[in-house]
Amino acid sequence: MSKAKFITFEGVDGAGKSTHLAWFAEALRKRGKEVLVTREPGGTPLGECLRDILLNQPMHAETEALLMFAARFEHIEQVIKPALQRGTWVVSDRFSDASFAYQGGGRGMNVAKLEQLECWVHENFQPDLTLLFDLPIEVARQRLSRNITLDRFEKEKDSFFEKVRLAYLERRKKHPDRIMLIDASQTPDHVKVNLEKIVISI
Ligand code: TYD
Repeated sequence: MSKAKFITFEGVDGAGKSTHLAWFAEALRKRGKEVLVTREPGGTPLGECLRDILLNQPMHAETEALLMFAARFEHIEQVIKPALQRGTWVVSDRFSDASFAYQGGGRGMNVAKLEQLECWVHENFQPDLTLLFDLPIEVARQRLSRNITLDRFEKEKDSFFEKVRLAYLERRKKHPDRIMLIDASQTPDHVKVNLEKIVISI
């Protein structure tokens, strides 16, 4: 049996990654894999409490980054690593690339500090594959405007999301073997065709 993999989904709010993630996990299950779907911030009881704070309470960018990584430490130790060890695949809606994109790009936090946190929290541990759902910000914003309630991040200006998008693309340049770009401006059916090819190849 092939080794269980850790796969993450990333992209700006409104890219549609959550819908595609559910479909992707189901497609893996149909191919006989045991799959755990999880998310960040969140994924553990403590992580979900921190998510509620992070999505609703105003705070300094550095506090935001520290809480994201604190939740992540718990997530890795309590959920991700134990699942992988028992042969369960893990598909997470966001992981550390989101901290580089949102706190680094969006909030302008020093990337070297984020790298220190990354090294502290998960040195030598990275997703096997990251799918980056990329699309123009105007399209993402139109999709988001259908939501009735918006959280603290979703209420940010277009310029914030432009910076988040660019930081994600930078991250991809830095990790081209791990991060795969998905054109999220296509119709959901087109995206599914791409995802299907990925499911077959992994
Ligand atoms: P998400 O689950 O994508 O939101 P939704 O439930 O509305 O689809 O993510 C929640 C927000 O958290 C998102 O706006 C991005 C932000 N975030 C960061 O800023 N840094 C991080 O490290 C992570 C994991 C998420």
